[in-house]
Amino acid sequence: MQVYSHHVPTRIIGGPGSLNDLAEHLAGWPRQCLVVCGQRFARLSGALERVTSLLASRKIDCTVFDGVEPNPSIKTVLEGAERARQLRSRWLLAVGGGSTIDAAKAIALKAVNQGKLADFAGNMRPENEPLPLVAVPTTAGTGSEVTPYAVLTDTRAVDKFGIGMPELFPRLAVLDAELTVSMPEAVTIDSGLDALSHAVEALFSRKRSLFSDLLAERAVWMVLRHLPQARRDSGDLTARGGMLEAACLAGMAIADTGTLIPHALSYPVTIRFGIPHGRATALLLPALLEKMQEVEPERSQRVGTLLGDADQPARALRAFVEALGVAPRLGAYGMQDDCLELLARQAHGKKHLRNTPGEWSQQDLEGILRASC
Ligand SMILES: [Fe+2]
Repeated sequence: MQVYSHHVPTRIIGGPGSLNDLAEHLAGWPRQCLVVCGQRFARLSGALERVTSLLASRKIDCTVFDGVEPNPSIKTVLEGAERARQLRSRWLLAVGGGSTIDAAKAIALKAVNQGKLADFAGNMRPENEPLPLVAVPTTAGTGSEVTPYAVLTDTRAVDKFGIGMPELFPRLAVLDAELTVSMPEAVTIDSGLDALSHAVEALFSRKRSLFSDLLAERAVWMVLRHLPQARRDSGDLTARGGMLEAACLAGMAIADTGTLIPHALSYPVTIRFGIPHGRATALLLPALLEKMQEVEPERSQRVGTLLGDADQPARALRAFVEALGVAPRLGAYGMQDDCLELLARQAHGKKHLRNTPGEWSQQDLEGILRASC
């Protein structure tokens, strides 16, 4: 048995309409709050309006920073941190998808700390505790509301990098399915596939434990059950709530286990080819599952059983993805053979490889990409 650690300190409130209870949990919080959201969707869905009126009813002074783009950049985080400093914000509330919550975590860190963001992705520790964060997800995928990770885009390196430290766990997460009903179909699918990838990767991670297994197995079961229905009927609150909870469970699992090679490879794939994160990881995952049948045969059977085919987990996963109307190969989105070596080189050396069972050379990574193309 391996040494493991389980730590998820975020308070979760959930259920349809649970956003209305947020104010009760903010008693004693300071008045100055920076609300972080994306450029469009939080406004269009009405989620931003609901959050700001709620804070106003508690006499909390909130200012909105709505500059977060999908795959948030370092520049956006630095602008947000500058805004938080100017306004003397004492805490942050992120309302939006995973990009928004990740950006808010990095803003919370940079608002009160010197140093480059990339250095925090290494071993640099923050001098000051990041500002407290409340996370209100409006998509069901990244589980960022319960993880210690912030994934940012380095536009110069055409890649993403992750900052992970316990101080980045949000203090409070609100899982209100009503906020996710206006999610467009493509976002529902792509974010749902991200949650599924997190859960499956957690089940193979070298850092897995009984705790992460329980969280991840339930998450897989819930995604298979609820994602097709959430896609078919966007207003089905049972399916929407199930997906929000599945994403949260998978997020708690990867908070312990980290993510594996499909995530490392997906980052440059997303930035270069514009393939949404969850879609990219889910299309890279079957090739890993095929390799895991040699490396971890018993575990593969267990995961295959969950996915619906004990002997061929990769085939079961591809079938699920296709049934959602997603082309199951990365080549369909413009990825070609001539960039595979470069992508494999970018991913080689990332810490995701240490989480993945087996030995992995750059050529092996190229093999995963080729099998997914
Ligand atoms: Fe992910």
